Amino acid sequence: MSRDEKLTMGKKIKKSEKYRKFYERQRELHRLIKENGSDILHSVNFKNSKNFVQHGTMSVHSHSRNVAKYSLIISRKLGIQCNQEDLVRGALLHDYFLYDWHDKKRENYNPLHGFYHPGIALKNAEKEYKLTPRQKDIIGKHMWPLTVVPPKCREAWIVSMADKYCSLMETIRLHKGHNRRQNRRRK
Ligand SMILES: [Fe+2]
Ligand SMILES: [Fe+2]
Repeated sequence: MSRDEKLTMGKKIKKSEKYRKFYERQRELHRLIKENGSDILHSVNFKNSKNFVQHGTMSVHSHSRNVAKYSLIISRKLGIQCNQEDLVRGALLHDYFLYDWHDKKRENYNPLHGFYHPGIALKNAEKEYKLTPRQKDIIGKHMWPLTVVPPKCREAWIVSMADKYCSLMETIRLHKGHNRRQNRRRK
């Protein structure tokens, strides 16, 4: 084998090793989300959030899962010790407002969705789940500084950061979803 062929082979091996590690990390993150939030993931209301657009083509369902994933990534990258169960469950439920916030014809439409939806999400989540104080802090304060009172726990700060990051990526279309309503519109 020539020197050039060896170099190309080496590069290919490095690349496939990089992909393998990436997919392993993704699988591990999905496992943690399932382990801590399986009941939420399988609930009717959470599944229904596939029908609501968050930003761009991303559904509230995919957005919430992504926020849970990036919350785990941020806590690891920054080396912040967290209660993983609270972090994942709070992230999955942070946008549990259960309506299409773009629909101006819906009952109780409020143009100030950004300010009010954390409170609505918290009320809805409390009806279905026994929330810990940390989970309540995550859901109720994730829109800080819009919600004025800052988060109290590190888990809530992390979810708030992950939410802002995911929302930006969705708005500039670097994170794309497969939202049903958007897809129907395009046909
Ligand atoms: Fe939100
Ligand atoms: Fe969000």
